[in-house]
Amino acid sequence: MDNEIFIVTQIKKLVYEISKQILDINSLKEIEKEVTEKGKNNYVTTFDIKVENKLKTALKELIVESTFLGEETGGKIESKGYTWVVDPIDGTTNFIHGLQYAISIGLVKYGKPIIGCIYSPSTEDFWYGIKGKGAYKNDIKLQVSQRDSIKDTVIEFGFPYDTSKTENILKNVLKIKQAGAADVKRIGPACLDICRVASGECDAYFEYDLKPWDIMAAMLILQEAGGTLYKMDGTKYEFTQGSIIVSNKSQKLKKQLLELIN
Ligand code: IPD
Ligand code: CA
Ligand code: CA
Repeated sequence: MDNEIFIVTQIKKLVYEISKQILDINSLKEIEKEVTEKGKNNYVTTFDIKVENKLKTALKELIVESTFLGEETGGKIESKGYTWVVDPIDGTTNFIHGLQYAISIGLVKYGKPIIGCIYSPSTEDFWYGIKGKGAYKNDIKLQVSQRDSIKDTVIEFGFPYDTSKTENILKNVLKIKQAGAADVKRIGPACLDICRVASGECDAYFEYDLKPWDIMAAMLILQEAGGTLYKMDGTKYEFTQGSIIVSNKSQKLKKQLLELIN
């Protein structure tokens, strides 16, 4: 446990430092010059690359025998030993537009997530979870909401880069709203969407086609806060990648969402 706390403390220092050294940007024009489109509507900036490179070096120093999977530099999750799973800027579109984004760092041991840390530079919120030891936002323990049906819930969703599912997603949003949700929101980025379910600010979230670096750290935070994560068919999510429904622990809410979302 002490060792895990030490790792979280070091990561906290590291993301604060990165935030000051690399991400302290005065104007959106500064970011605009650094943007390239790596796929349709899928952007990357030189800031994403700089943050990932810095993290890759520092995290490998923290656990010398670890391997690394990052969105921008690749890698894979090893079934043995430790692997860092990193999204240097989750929410690059938000970042380019001056909206909230986050640095997401997960640590996997023998294929299972054991630590998740997420930092939002614009709000200075630091979220973390340690397997079996709970999840925290700015050192306050997290717990999912208690709402037991779709009525009065706030549900989040996301749009994947592949636009072929957009119409279907919007149909889902309409159905959820008509079923009695207080609100259905697109906020992003994915890791913070999941964290907001962990903290009870939102009650559920769904998104298609996510990658391990979008989910890994947030998934542990969510589960440690009592939340659940499953595939679109209601079966257990196995944490590689794909489409997910995230919710509090209510079985009734889960059933309702599964009936509405397809
Ligand atoms: C994206 C963000 C966004 C989500 C997309 C992700 P990126 O990550 O998390 O909120 O809707 O599906 O790909 O590309 O900005 O790291
Ligand atoms: Ca991402
Ligand atoms: Ca990213």
